[in-house]
Amino acid sequence: MNRGLLIVFEGIDGSGKSTQCRRLAELLNKKGIANISFAEPTRGKWGMKIRQLLEKGRNGISPDEELEWFMNDRKEDVEQNIKPALKAGKVVLMDRYYFSTAAYQGALGFDPHKIRADNEKFAPIPDRVLVFHNSPEISLERIESSREEKSAFEKRDYLIAVQNIFKSFSGPNIRYISSDPSLEIVYEQVVCEVQDLFEVKL
Ligand code: TMP
Repeated sequence: MNRGLLIVFEGIDGSGKSTQCRRLAELLNKKGIANISFAEPTRGKWGMKIRQLLEKGRNGISPDEELEWFMNDRKEDVEQNIKPALKAGKVVLMDRYYFSTAAYQGALGFDPHKIRADNEKFAPIPDRVLVFHNSPEISLERIESSREEKSAFEKRDYLIAVQNIFKSFSGPNIRYISSDPSLEIVYEQVVCEVQDLFEVKL
């Protein structure tokens, strides 16, 4: 099968992963490498339900339902977006993927390693996962300066628990990047951590 590359950006809110994901897309465009970016939660029917939850809080929804919504959203994304793009030979850049479910819903009490294994039954396994980490205080400062209100998912203790789960993942394709240094230095590190996947010099 013709298969592209799957590169995933993960980390707690305010870790700077979305900015780095955009910058890598710009670099690939400049190099003429076909690529496409997707973000989860998506803007599909499950993703929109999730976005309401982020805005209005978790009132009235159980942790089981929350986990189910994220899984349904991903199943849709995999079938409609990710698999077709990989089949077309594109580099797929993901701003969040199933490691987020393992970490965020894992922090609600589910077993993160089971969540990861359940996802790997249907979701393509990434060629590289870049997990960004920084002090939750920095994340919260960034969130507060960029938005008026924090979402239900952005409380300090919860973010610490989420980040601890992110740090517990292991595998040959996982790389940890501190996002404490400047954007430029973090960007250099991103390029360095994916260079071996490409034949051309990035
Ligand atoms: P975003 O800010 O990167 O768009 O993500 C929205 C929120 O959704 C963020 O707080 C993390 C959360 N989230 C989960 O809790 N589980 C998941 O599986 C995903 C993809 C996101």
